Amino acid sequence: MAMESARATVLVIGSGGREQALAWKLAQSAHVKKVYIAPGNGGSTGNIENVAIGFTDVPELLKFAQEKHIDLTVIGQEAASDAGAVDAFKAAGLTIFGPTKAATRLEASKVFSKDLMASEHIPTAAYQTFTDPGDAIEYATSRPLPVVIKADGLATGKGVYICATVQEIGIAITDIMVKKVFGESGDSVVVEDFLKGQEVSVHALCDGNQAVMFPASQDHKQVFDGDKGPNTGGMGVIAPVPWVTPAHIEATKAQIVLPALAGLQKRNTPFTGCLYPGLMIDGDDIKLLEFNARFGDPEAEVYMRLLDGDLYEVLTACAKGELDPSSIAWKPGFAVTVVLCSPGYPADYPKGLPITGIAEAEKLNDIVVFHAATIRNTIAGNDDEILTAGGRVLNVTATGPTLEETIDKAYAAVKLINFEGMHYRTDIGRRLNG
Ligand code: AMP
Ligand code: GLY
Repeated sequence: MAMESARATVLVIGSGGREQALAWKLAQSAHVKKVYIAPGNGGSTGNIENVAIGFTDVPELLKFAQEKHIDLTVIGQEAASDAGAVDAFKAAGLTIFGPTKAATRLEASKVFSKDLMASEHIPTAAYQTFTDPGDAIEYATSRPLPVVIKADGLATGKGVYICATVQEIGIAITDIMVKKVFGESGDSVVVEDFLKGQEVSVHALCDGNQAVMFPASQDHKQVFDGDKGPNTGGMGVIAPVPWVTPAHIEATKAQIVLPALAGLQKRNTPFTGCLYPGLMIDGDDIKLLEFNARFGDPEAEVYMRLLDGDLYEVLTACAKGELDPSSIAWKPGFAVTVVLCSPGYPADYPKGLPITGIAEAEKLNDIVVFHAATIRNTIAGNDDEILTAGGRVLNVTATGPTLEETIDKAYAAVKLINFEGMHYRTDIGRRLNG
């Protein structure tokens, strides 16, 4: 790619560990002089700088990008795509990595997504969609238990109920469709059969025409060890997943990713960005749980540690529809991230707790700590003090030659970090084979 060296400025949209990881990797590009994150978090330092613009404030984001002559904008947070950031930036002639609002429906509407899966013959759980609560209950109670009930729209990962009894079906449908606990996301529901197996995350970079598959990764969604407790945004990830074979990845590409891209092409809404199918794998059987139209968080954190190449070049080419599959390579070995979260998360939790030990942890070999919900303590005038500011606070990432060694390195770093009531899972990567 013919570009002057170290002149490019980049804007990353979002505020989590995923966005810090993307910014960290982008800042290593020989082309990149400066990375802005809107709105970012307490981890931004050096040539990574926060900009106080919310991630759905598309007019302000666009104004900023034009004023600063941003060369590449990268969407981390899906709400920005759903708010039409890509459409607005493209209309203004700017280069932006992410899906249009129409293509984001793959994630933003479970009804749209399931209907696309059906029309493109993508393997997924049997389902029906409903706008009437009575019809939904009648169908759900006719299916084998457990049965899964999902609010249609974005519900910050909380709109999914796995119902083991008829009574739970009633509660789920009443919550979603009658009490509207997720607002208009509950105007319609998907009722689908329960799938067994192990959940695996796969990512594919898509430039509208072609898809390049990443190695598989595995998140740990429940808050407590042994997959106990409520679902979270993700408590820790490993990549690659040792028991996921190249045949699994090829089948995912052929049966899930490419049909989805073709289906969106047919609807005149081609997909550009990171497509992240959440899979349920049971032996050789692969079924799609859901599509996400973005990088996973904390999946992005491990992928950025393993990616061997220039992320600025890759994402620019992808945004322009010119992705070169040979530009994406992976370092050998493994990456692991352990999420440190606030006491009480995913329910209520305190904020503003001082964090110690991050710098000490980062002195260990092969450790990078990506901030998620943190802020710098500017009120006390002590910019070096980092405070907690949300549920998932930090992502401690390690790389290493074997999975066991990498897990041990990550936990050795975790032990150096502390804040009051800090919680993390102690069993990331220690699941048995699928
Ligand atoms: P989703 O937002 O659709 O990925 O659902 C959230 C979580 O619920 C998933 O990560 C799975 O753990 C679980 N889940 C969703 N659908 C199913 C299903 N059909 N069978 C089993 N578990 C499911
Ligand atoms: N780690 C799960 C997600 O990003 O949806």
